[in-house]
Amino acid sequence: MSGNITFTMIKPGAVADGHIGAIMAKIAEGGFKFKAVKMFRLSKEQAESFYAVHSARPFFNSLVASMSSGPIIAAVLENENAVLAYRDFIGATNPADAKEGSIRKLYGTSIESNAVHGSDSDENARIEANFFFSSMEQF
Ligand code: RTP
Ligand code: MG
Repeated sequence: MSGNITFTMIKPGAVADGHIGAIMAKIAEGGFKFKAVKMFRLSKEQAESFYAVHSARPFFNSLVASMSSGPIIAAVLENENAVLAYRDFIGATNPADAKEGSIRKLYGTSIESNAVHGSDSDENARIEANFFFSSMEQF
């Protein structure tokens, strides 16, 4: 059965562009409840660790540089079938392909600076939430 928790980040580009409030409002309007929120700047090492699954990809160094270029908002979200529901909600990885009205379409500026991250499995949601928030029992 699918879990009710996912993890998201508002990426540095969207934070720098002043979109924190609009994106958080949209997430809430989409039916996702905020269970935890934190503003945080990832070091290069932390960004490498967070995206370690992509370490062999050609875009890895650029992704790490972009994710550690400024503060992010990290959040744990609750909804039914949260992981899949949120990935559908934010739109395709490349903002150019994301559906109209989605967060990535509205606030993403490139495939790398695509406004938000969304976990891709229940297990990764738990791992990623634990990366930023210490006591997962509360979720
Ligand atoms: P995310 O993990 O950030 O929620 O994004 P995703 O699942 O939709 O995409 P994923 O394949 O996990 O890629 C992680 C992030 O790497 C950047 N990326 N750049 N230049 C490229 O071809 C490329 N492909 C992916 C994106 O910022 C993507 O969100
Ligand atoms: Mg991913």
